[in-house]
Amino acid sequence: MSVIAEQSISLPLVLPKGDVHAQMEIFYNPLMASNRSISILLLNTLSKKNLTIADPLAGSGIRSLRFLKELHSGKIQRLCVNDLKPGFTSYFKKQLKRNKITLEETELVLGNTDATPFLLHQNGFDYIDIDPFGSPNPFLAAAAARISREGIVAITATDTAALTGTYPRATRRKYWAEPLHTFLMHEVGLRILIRRIQLQGTQFDKAFVPLLSYHKDHYFRVYLRATKGKEKCDQIVEQHQYFLFCTSCLDRKCSRWNNETCACGKQFQFAGPLWTGPLGEHPFIQKMADNNPFPEEKEFLDLLAAEAAVNVVGFHDLHEIARRVKKDPPRLEKIIKRVRGVRTQFSGTGIKTTVSRKEIEKEFNER
Ligand SMILES: C[S@@+](CC[C@H](N)C(=O)[O-])C[C@H]1O[C@@H](n2cnc3c(N)ncnc32)[C@H](O)[C@@H]1O
Ligand SMILES: [Zn+2]
Repeated sequence: MSVIAEQSISLPLVLPKGDVHAQMEIFYNPLMASNRSISILLLNTLSKKNLTIADPLAGSGIRSLRFLKELHSGKIQRLCVNDLKPGFTSYFKKQLKRNKITLEETELVLGNTDATPFLLHQNGFDYIDIDPFGSPNPFLAAAAARISREGIVAITATDTAALTGTYPRATRRKYWAEPLHTFLMHEVGLRILIRRIQLQGTQFDKAFVPLLSYHKDHYFRVYLRATKGKEKCDQIVEQHQYFLFCTSCLDRKCSRWNNETCACGKQFQFAGPLWTGPLGEHPFIQKMADNNPFPEEKEFLDLLAAEAAVNVVGFHDLHEIARRVKKDPPRLEKIIKRVRGVRTQFSGTGIKTTVSRKEIEKEFNER
């Protein structure tokens, strides 16, 4: 048994010698500390107080313990924490004591059951955090059913191989879309995941709009805000389109159709349908970056905030263009300035810009 410390919380745990795995008696993944910190920052950046929060796949309970310690006073009215593993509730109660957490203003509901009935047997939530092993699919319908008006669903997906097209048949089966296994695969995967979750929402007339979405390390993470209304849902569905990509000239566009020819004469490869709207709300993400108390997340949050200023689907990768035009790429910072672009979370050599691929290629000649 070792005692791990993560921000405000310490936990006694048996950690495996190699990688963490689903069979651990109490599941804890140190690599997900960033995922948890960003969820705390997001909730503390919202102006709303008195939230009802669900953490139905709690693992060690570390996220909820951190919520209780690190969310601002008055944030949590009710916290519902659950995990299917035997002994979860007694473990969680012990950790409350160990970490000297008193529940003055918060009602705590503990469960040791399946996440779906746990959610469905309760009233609506302002925030539901779905953080499973692999795909979130089995839990999406219950989360969509139980999220309140203006509530936020926070979803992790660690089945990156399915979303990025290592196994295209898995993408079709699980995410109802065609992947794109190129340098653009992480953004395409994220947008496929967003659409998949949005379709769970529209069946309840709930429109899920991205507040923050990202890909990091081995996982995808999205925060979607629910608003109610058939018209709002129609607007969501209208933004589910195909992403067309030409593997010859690297041109791209969004389209309602998946069978088109590029101006260079080659047939476009298609991905999707996927979400073609913004990946997040720029002012909110900027506020998060400005409020961030976690130094280890600063670089990533500043990148997300800067990237959110440019709302385009896809990005240009200098190395990919260099290979095509057979020239060394210019310095990223220089070209970013010239095309009024921004860096992207999806590639260290990528640029998001509204300027066309041809205009960027011109920059390779002007040196
Ligand atoms: C990735 S871990 C959760 C990690 C945790 N959210 C965190 O931030 O550390 C997934 C957890 O879901 C639990 N689980 C798997 N299937 C479940 C189900 N159907 N209902 C409830 N819990 C489940 C597992 O026991 C495991 O602890
Ligand atoms: Zn082309």
